[in-house]
This record gives sequence, C-alpha cells and structure tokens, in this order.
Amino acid sequence: MKYYTSWILLSVALFWVSPASAQVQDENFVPDFRHMKIDNPAALTDSNAEAIYHQIQSELAKTFARSELPVVKEYNTWKRYNRAPYLSSTHGDRYINNFANDLAVRYDALAKGYKMPAGAVFAKDGFAVTKDGDILPGRLFVMEKLAEGASPGTGDWRYLAIESDGSLIGDSQHDAQNALEFCHICHKVRSSRDFLFFVPPGYRN
Ligand code: HEC
Repeated sequence: MKYYTSWILLSVALFWVSPASAQVQDENFVPDFRHMKIDNPAALTDSNAEAIYHQIQSELAKTFARSELPVVKEYNTWKRYNRAPYLSSTHGDRYINNFANDLAVRYDALAKGYKMPAGAVFAKDGFAVTKDGDILPGRLFVMEKLAEGASPGTGDWRYLAIESDGSLIGDSQHDAQNALEFCHICHKVRSSRDFLFFVPPGYRN
C-alpha cells in the first residue's frame, strides 16, 4: 500500500514538473495520460459533478480558447452527449464531458462501417476534485475528422490535446506528431466504428 502511494505521488510530481512547452519541443517525449492521477481524488455523485461543472464550464472554455485553435473556440456551445460528467480513466482520471459539433451526425447511433464526414469535431473537457475540495481543471481532448486521405495512418483523424492553461500539448497534424500517437493506438480498437467510442452506457443523454 505504501509502495503504491509513493508511486502515485512520484508520477504526479514528475508530471507537474515538466512544463507543457518542454513537452512539445522534445520530439521524443510521449506524455502518458494514463498516469495523470491526483493523489486524493474525491468521489462525486452525478449531481455534484454536474453542479461543479456548471460553475467552472465557461472558465474552462475561455481558457481553452486561448490556444487560438479555431477548432476548439466554441466547443462548449456544441451538443453535449453525456447527461453528467463521468469518470474517465483513459483521459487522466477526470470527470469529463463529451461534446460534438453539428457535422458529427449519427454520433449517438454509430453503425458498423459508418464514417464521419470531414469537419466533424469531438471535444472532451473535464476536471477533478480533491478531498480537500480543490477543483483542478483538466485538459481538452479533441478529435477532428479530416478530408479523405489527409492522414491515412490515423483513419483521417487529427488528435489534439490542450493543457489546462490553454497551451498546446500536441497536435497530430503539426508540431507534436509523435506525442499523440498513443491516442490513435487506443482508439484503433474501434476501427469498425470510425475509431469513436461514444459515451459510456448510463451517461448517455
Ligand atoms: C487507453 C485508451 C485511450 C487513449 C490512450 C485515448 N483515448 Fe480517447 N477515448 C477512449 C475511450 C474509452 C473513450 C470513450 C469513453 C470516454 O469518454 O472516456 C474515448 C473518447 C474520446 C473522445 C470522444 C469521441 C469518441 O471516441 O467517442 C475524444 C475526442 C478522445 N477520446 C480524444 C482522445 C485524445 C486526443 C487522446 C490522446 C491525447 C485520447 N483520446 C487517448 C480511449 C482512449
């Protein structure tokens, strides 16, 4: 137990001392989002999580808009597909939300072989709360469907991750290509449904 706790504290410390700008500059750096844990997370009920999210939602959106990426500027005005923030261990153990723009047609009825049209964008924001009541903003995870043939290695998806201060962590189409390879490696298990997972049952709107 003691070993486990120290391991978590160490990974949190290592994670927080590496500034986002350094991550983008080092082409060999691969951020490991699965280890982005906080040491004393509070367990939230759905209604608590929803209430906290309402308090911080516009602040989160404003921060991500600082990244100056047109693709995320207004994600918080898009349709939200989850009824309350849900815990996602694959995106940093945060309570997260799932938004998609108008071009993301049939996201809630993903059939086998279906392909999203170019221009469809999906965004996940989120937060964590410690047992002391501190609210920690999460990162923004984005997938954008590109034109056919634009990125054959990723099923024509662009993956983006934005730090909770608005700085860019990686963009699979541009500066930090290697850093986000692991996004697609995991999303590949859903290749029959255009690499999309949708919202976990129980949290669908
Ligand atoms: C270990 C597996 C895993 C990794 C790594 C991963 N994802 Fe996901 N992703 C999922 C799962 C599972 C879901 C659906 C459940 C959820 O929302 O957590 C999802 C959902 C999403 C969605 C909503 C669209 C959809 O699939 O329904 C976006 C956007 C997304 N991920 C972006 C990213 C980005 C960007 C990265 C890399 C920075 C990433 N993901 C890394 C497993 C993963």
